[in-house]
Amino acid sequence: MTIASDLPQVLVIDDEMGPRESLRMLLKPNYQVYTADNVEAGLHILREKKPDAVISDIRMPGTSGIDGLRKIREIDPHVAVIMLTGFGALETAKEALRLGANDYISKPFDAREMREVIGRNVERTRIQRTGINAAAEIKELNNRLLKELAQKERLASLGQASAEFVHDLGNPLTIVWGYVQLLAKKLEQSEKENGTTNETSAKELNIIEQNVRLCRELLTMWQSYGSVEASPHKPISVTQVVREVVKGVGPMAVQSGVELHCDICDDPCTLLGDSVQIMRAIQNVIINALQASAEKKGSVVVSCTCKDFYVDVRVEDTGYGIAPAQLAKIFDPYFTTKQGKSGTGLGLYITKKVVEDHNGSIKVESTPQIGTTFTIRLPLLNN
Ligand SMILES: Nc1ncnc2c1ncn2[C@@H]1O[C@H](COP(=O)(O)OP(=O)(O)OP(=O)(O)O)[C@@H](O)[C@H]1O
Ligand SMILES: [Mg+2]
Repeated sequence: MTIASDLPQVLVIDDEMGPRESLRMLLKPNYQVYTADNVEAGLHILREKKPDAVISDIRMPGTSGIDGLRKIREIDPHVAVIMLTGFGALETAKEALRLGANDYISKPFDAREMREVIGRNVERTRIQRTGINAAAEIKELNNRLLKELAQKERLASLGQASAEFVHDLGNPLTIVWGYVQLLAKKLEQSEKENGTTNETSAKELNIIEQNVRLCRELLTMWQSYGSVEASPHKPISVTQVVREVVKGVGPMAVQSGVELHCDICDDPCTLLGDSVQIMRAIQNVIINALQASAEKKGSVVVSCTCKDFYVDVRVEDTGYGIAPAQLAKIFDPYFTTKQGKSGTGLGLYITKKVVEDHNGSIKVESTPQIGTTFTIRLPLLNN
């Protein structure tokens, strides 16, 4: 069964009731028919209903059919317009076609011919409109592809630049690494000689050493990126990684006046993965939380909770929060609100990639001015 709203729509404009009503009766079984007894009323329906075809008488009191045709074209350049002309009024019909009518029928009309002409013209409008919609869709698709391409090009050129950068950074880092070890040895020696222990210095040196090692590992990872297959995943303890990250960012929290708390479960939370990458993923989220809370001198709580099959690493801050409109963009590469403050906008993009490479997920909840919570969920080993 055809529902009335699925039917093609036809608008009939004629001041004479006879032809108007006989057209209504003729077309009713196959079309949703609207009628108007003058041009202005017809234009109103045209705007409101967007019919698939308009049948308009040429000779009408007030606004004539020809003037009406001009106005119809201004409102809808694509709707098919069929003019009803007086018998033998060929010149007027020609004029109407020249002005943009699609067809004409002489009065009195033949029912079969009328059905044929309307069928043809309704089809014409539909094809035109789908063509326009398709063109608009193609244009939108093109724009999206161009945007994606631009983003990929930026990433590709960044890849190129970073290969050189990684190479150059390796040398000074090796020197720092050497000196840190030398200092550690000297400290140990002087402690032995003086019979004293300086725990603070040893601890601080240890943190420097750990982080320089992390930098070196990151560099190695970047250097091998693309040429060697990703390093094979090994059993790693997430709680241990979280503890190391928290220790590493401790001085940053102190410097920015943010209280950093952690609540880490006793279970090692073992999963198969790459500890350097997981460390980097969690570090990005904690650093963001510290940066967001610095101005308010707020607090950041890092928790690690082990469930049967997964571990949740939650980073909760009382910072400036994220506006709802920006929430959908924060994982996009290069999205940053820290322009001029050294933000590249790659942190969360990398985090999400690493988490997904480990078959995990990342979730964010935020209330502007109140704070933000990120939850990284990772599947545990043996599940
Ligand atoms: N905890 C948070 N509180 C408020 N806003 C955040 C938080 N975490 C992320 N954001 C928002 O998400 C954006 C993107 O974060 P992302 O870590 O990807 O980049 P970034 O921190 O700006 O720069 P980068 O990490 O590359 O130095 C940030 O600029 C910030 O607007
Ligand atoms: Mg960041």
